[in-house]
Amino acid sequence: MLPHVRISVIGCGYLGAVHAACMVGLGHDVVGLDVDAVKVEQLSRGVAPFHEPGLEEVLTEALASGRLTFTTDPSAIAGCDLHFIAVGTPQQAKSYAADMTYVWSAVDTVLQHATVPEEGPAVIVGKSTVPVGTAQAIADRVAGADLDAVVVWNPEFLREGFAVQDTTAPDRIVYGLPEDRERGELGRAALDRVYAPILERGTPRLLVNYPTAELVKVAANSFLATKISFINSMAELCDATGGDVARLADAIGHDERIGRKFLRAGIGFGGGCLPKDIRAFMARAGELGVDQSLTFLREVDSINLRRRDHAVELATEMAGGRLVGVKVAVLGLTFKPDSDDVRDSPALDIAGRLWGRGATVVATDPAGAAPVRAMRPDLHVVDTAAEALDGADIVMLLTEWPEYVALDPARTRSVVRTPRIIDGRNALDPRAWADAGWDYRGMGRTASTW
Ligand code: UGA
Repeated sequence: MLPHVRISVIGCGYLGAVHAACMVGLGHDVVGLDVDAVKVEQLSRGVAPFHEPGLEEVLTEALASGRLTFTTDPSAIAGCDLHFIAVGTPQQAKSYAADMTYVWSAVDTVLQHATVPEEGPAVIVGKSTVPVGTAQAIADRVAGADLDAVVVWNPEFLREGFAVQDTTAPDRIVYGLPEDRERGELGRAALDRVYAPILERGTPRLLVNYPTAELVKVAANSFLATKISFINSMAELCDATGGDVARLADAIGHDERIGRKFLRAGIGFGGGCLPKDIRAFMARAGELGVDQSLTFLREVDSINLRRRDHAVELATEMAGGRLVGVKVAVLGLTFKPDSDDVRDSPALDIAGRLWGRGATVVATDPAGAAPVRAMRPDLHVVDTAAEALDGADIVMLLTEWPEYVALDPARTRSVVRTPRIIDGRNALDPRAWADAGWDYRGMGRTASTW
C-alpha cells in the first residue's frame, strides 16, 4: 500500500493547480488554497482557469475521488502533514528583482494555521522560483515561530503545455534540505512519501543544500534562455550571410554535447518564467556582489528582445518602408503553442508594435484570443485564421500552433492580397512557400535550394 499524506498546496495558479491535482493521483489527500475566489470556484467544478492539455481530466478524476478540495479559507490547511508553497514570484514593477510578497504571505498563512502532526514536525515545501537565500530566510522565520516545522526546497521544472506530464513523470526531483542532518532526514522522508510512486520508477532524486536547490532552478532556466539566444544570434549571422539557421542547428545539434533541443531560432522566448527568471537572477547576483558572474545574461536578454525589433523591421521593409494602412495578418499571440498565456509574449508585443506603426493588424490565436481581447481591446482579434488572412498584405506566423504550420501555401495564397510571409518561428517549409509564389522570410532563414 502506498503511503498516504495529507497535503496543502498554497497558491493554485499554474504550478499549484496542476500540482494539487496530480498529488491526488499519487494517492494523497489534498487541499488547494488560493485567495482568488473565482479560481477556487472554477477549480472546484473541475474547470481549469487556464489552457493546459490534460489538466481538466486529472482534476475531474481527483475531485470525483473526494480527496481534492479547493478553498479560500486558510484554516482548511490545519491537520495537513505537509504544505507546498506554490505561489507566483513575478517581476517587480520597478526593478528586475522578484516580488516576494506572495511567498511571505504564504509562509505567514502556514505559521498561523498549520498544526503539528502526531508523528513529528510539519513540513513546509517551497516550490516557487525564488532568489537564492529564501529557503534559509524562511527556515529562520519558522524557527522563531511557534510551529515545529521542517523547511525543504523542491524546485519545479514543469513546462506549460506539458504540465501534467512534467509533474507526474519528471526527469529529476531535487530536495534542498536543512544542514541539521536529523531535521533534513525528516524532510527527506516526508517528500519520499509524497513522491513514492515516482521514485519507485527510478526517477533520479538529488539531495542538496538549500542554496543549491534554489540555484538549480534558475540555472536551468538561464541555460535554456542562453541556448535560445545563442541560436538567435546565429540567426543574425545567417541573415547577414545568407545562411540557414535551422540547418545550422540541425548540424550542430547532432553533436550530443550540444543537442538539438531549444535551438529553434525565431522571435525569441517569452512567458511567465524565462524572461523574469533571468532578470531576477541578475538582480540577486547584484545583491550578492557577484553581478559580473551573470553579465552574460544581460546579453541573452538583449539578443532576445532584439528579435522582436527585427520582426517589426522586417515587416516594415517588406511593406516598402511604411506600415500605415498595410494589413498584417498575425497568426498566434501566445508565448508558445498549447497555452493561453500571453505574459511577456513576443507575438503580442510584435502585434502591438505593428499596430503602433499604423499597420492594420488582424490577429488570431486558438487559445490566446480571449485574454488578448481583455488586455488589449485596441487590437483587432478575430476567431479564425481565415478571417485574419483575408486580403492580407503581409502574413506573420508568430506562434507555431499546429493549425498554422499546416496551412497550405497555395490555398492561403488565394485568399491574401499579396503573398508575403514572415515565419517568426521558422516553422514552415521555406521551399514549399516560395514555390507557391510567396516572398518567404524566416528568422535567419531564406528559401534556398539547399
Ligand atoms: C520554462 C522551462 O522550460 C521549464 O523547464 C520551467 O519549469 C518553466 O519555464 C518555469 O520556470 O516554470 P515554459 O515557460 O513553459 O517553461 O516554456 P518553454 O517551453 O521553456 O518556452 C519558453 C519560450 O522559449 C517560449 O516563448 C518558446 O517559444 C521559446 N523557445 C523555446 C524558443 O524560442 N526556441 C526554442 O528552441 C525553445
